[in-house]
Amino acid sequence: MKILITGGAGFLGQRLARELLVRGEVKGVDGQPQTITELVLLDVVPASGFTDKRVRVETGDIAERSVLERLIDSETSVIFHLAAIVSGQAEADFDLGMRINLDASRVLLEACRARGHRPRVVFTSSVAVYGGDMPEVVQNDTALNPQSSYGTQKAIAELLLNDYTRRGFVDGRIMRLPTISVRPGKPNAAASSFASGIIREPLNGETSVCPVAGSTRVWLLSPRRAIASLIAGLELDAALFGMQRALNLPGISVSVDEMVDALREVAGDEVAKRVEWKMDPRIDKLVTSWPGAWDTTRAERLGLVGERSFADVIRSYIEDEHIQVR
Ligand SMILES: NC(=O)c1ccc[n+]([C@@H]2O[C@H](COP(=O)([O-])OP(=O)(O)OC[C@H]3O[C@@H](n4cnc5c(N)ncnc54)[C@H](O)[C@@H]3O)[C@@H](O)[C@H]2O)c1
Repeated sequence: MKILITGGAGFLGQRLARELLVRGEVKGVDGQPQTITELVLLDVVPASGFTDKRVRVETGDIAERSVLERLIDSETSVIFHLAAIVSGQAEADFDLGMRINLDASRVLLEACRARGHRPRVVFTSSVAVYGGDMPEVVQNDTALNPQSSYGTQKAIAELLLNDYTRRGFVDGRIMRLPTISVRPGKPNAAASSFASGIIREPLNGETSVCPVAGSTRVWLLSPRRAIASLIAGLELDAALFGMQRALNLPGISVSVDEMVDALREVAGDEVAKRVEWKMDPRIDKLVTSWPGAWDTTRAERLGLVGERSFADVIRSYIEDEHIQVR
């Protein structure tokens, strides 16, 4: 089986690639395990650190039709479409967000359609597709009403994936990801970057500034569970999706105050005191436009598993990243 990951050099793309290589196989459309023979990692920057012979690192812009036409052949039976311009950057640069998050998604679907082999396409959508007047707990079928350009681009791409699936051009699976926390490395341009920063930096002996109020609720998922969910979404029987290809992934709903309490529980008061508070209205506006809690019954019925507690999420970060708490 040949698998393509767009955004293969990104945070989730790299983790997904590593997990697929460890597993060595995924279920085919018939539910039977198939060996992964080739894993193509496409990104504008080269994915590094892969020496496995099954990996092919490709650099290119997904908005360029020729790039996708070259990389998606009739052997490419699975595509994880992760390449994106994240929320803060898509809000700051409207044209870039439209080009990569929306136009390139259509280019990808068209390249699949032109091949005519109906690959499974797993698309990473986001909480940001919801917004405006929302019920306290957002349901899987709550109307999409994004309040950011990023959310709008993701919502339109979701609709396209639904329709290209209905027409039989692809077998689309839309995974609506909560904010991923704890993300290792440096802060990024996502408005939700603080949701990792207020845990990661204090554990590393540094202060971190929280730009939203402590009462703000966020919907979070660990990188570990996010990757497991993307693969589970790929392996689900297509018939189980029915007429709705999107799944709100199970995660955990916590207030920012509760996140800091969990940090205190896991790493102690000295570490938790390294979180400082300074409201940033630009970030606050985006983050509070997203739902803080969503109903995940549908995904859970299909066997996807969420988090038990945010303290456990912090513990899995410390374990996975070999963090020495300072
Ligand atoms: N991390 C989160 O909290 C989160 C939450 C919800 C949804 N998502 C979605 O999950 C996916 C992966 O997120 P991530 O956290 O790994 O982000 P990331 O920014 O680390 O990865 C995205 C990758 O896409 C690549 N890319 C951008 N433009 C490209 C182009 N023109 N051609 C090819 N590659 C290009 C980037 O270089 C980057 O490596 C994205 O679709 C994102 O919208 C992430």
